[in-house]
Amino acid sequence: MFEYCERRLRCEQVDLDEIARSAGTPCYVYSSRAILDAYEAYDDAFGDVPHMVCYAVKANSTLAVLSLLAKAGAGFDIVSGGELYRVLQAGGDPARVVFSGVGKTAPEIRFALTNGIAGFNCESEAELAEIDAIAERLGVAARFSLRVNPDVDAATHPYISTGLRGHKFGVDIEAAEHLYRRARSFRHLRATGVSCHIGSQILDISPILEAAEKVLALIERLQAEGHEIDHVDLGGGLGIAYQAADRAPGIREFIQQLRGRIGRDGLTVVVEPGRSIVGSAGVLLTRVLHRKKTPAKEFVVVDAAMNDLIRPALYRSHHDILPLRQPEASTTVLADVVGPICETGDFLARDRELVDVRPGKYLAIASAGAYGFAQASNYNSRPRAAEVLVEGDRWRVIRERETYADLIRGETK
Ligand code: LLP
Repeated sequence: MFEYCERRLRCEQVDLDEIARSAGTPCYVYSSRAILDAYEAYDDAFGDVPHMVCYAVKANSTLAVLSLLAKAGAGFDIVSGGELYRVLQAGGDPARVVFSGVGKTAPEIRFALTNGIAGFNCESEAELAEIDAIAERLGVAARFSLRVNPDVDAATHPYISTGLRGHKFGVDIEAAEHLYRRARSFRHLRATGVSCHIGSQILDISPILEAAEKVLALIERLQAEGHEIDHVDLGGGLGIAYQAADRAPGIREFIQQLRGRIGRDGLTVVVEPGRSIVGSAGVLLTRVLHRKKTPAKEFVVVDAAMNDLIRPALYRSHHDILPLRQPEASTTVLADVVGPICETGDFLARDRELVDVRPGKYLAIASAGAYGFAQASNYNSRPRAAEVLVEGDRWRVIRERETYADLIRGETK
């Protein structure tokens, strides 16, 4: 949805330069069409297999994005009370919400139960006991899946790989049956599924398929023991192409492969995609402030920084950087693209060959729709960026740029 038309980078039918000038920079811009296409690709690819596509809210939790997905019929995967609040405010259906995460608090569990969410993905016996106690006080039954750790290597960045034995996530798959048996003594819990999530930005899907097979084998054993397991939740994790060399499997192909493995009667398949729905649907617009040359290097100093997009600093991740106006002559520079923050780690790209942009010109940091704004902070007392949603030939600000007054809201002298 981001393409050049007569040397101008557009999002759908809107010239991004127009947005940058009018909304200011730094500014995130999302294509509603790209988000909906990705969601629909998941939904369609399941065909007649009973399924629920629960968008992982953490990837991009902006209200308008959630509302777009809620209207399309998506479910949601949440990891905090705050995310549930956002989903409800956006018009999401709580009956299609799954609550994941390794450390849910009592108020969060209460909030989820009183709103009638679909179920909890639980990660320990202590958590089961706590949910049971809260459900008892509320006089309701809580549905749960155990998130099992299948000990599969997702072969992704170590910070976002979650399915190995040494990770904090899930319950060892070998111990799971025992725990399901013990859970029968909790009178306000109903075991209805098994879940797993082995990591994020996974480009080779074979580990996901391997984990799915292990989980399905477990479900067979559980069903044979009389547990009424009606769904399998395979988490999220499908990667996107951040650069031309990344071979990202398509959503449809991925789900078809999963269908081929699952094909079991009656089992509802839940997935929790985040990045593959919003990642390629967003860019971060930034303005070039200065060009700077040291004896060692050339720098392009821009007005976006690691507080706006922390992924390059945190995971050394690559984001393509594109000029909003493609110059006629294609002279390039080899430079670091850096922000104004007082840290050497504040870079958006290192040793990158990019067009020879002048101060005052705009750039788009590509594939920034997932874990971009959602991980933004106010570090260096920088107001968080504005966000814009494009729908065809129209665009609107869906989150105003923060003001200085926002920076000190709730503080006292
Ligand atoms: N389900 C669970 C339980 C998760 O922990 C996650 C992501 C997802 C679903 C969604 O995964 P996705 O489809 O987006 O890969 N900040 C990092 C990514 C952290 C992912 C955390 N969990 C980044 O910027 O790459």
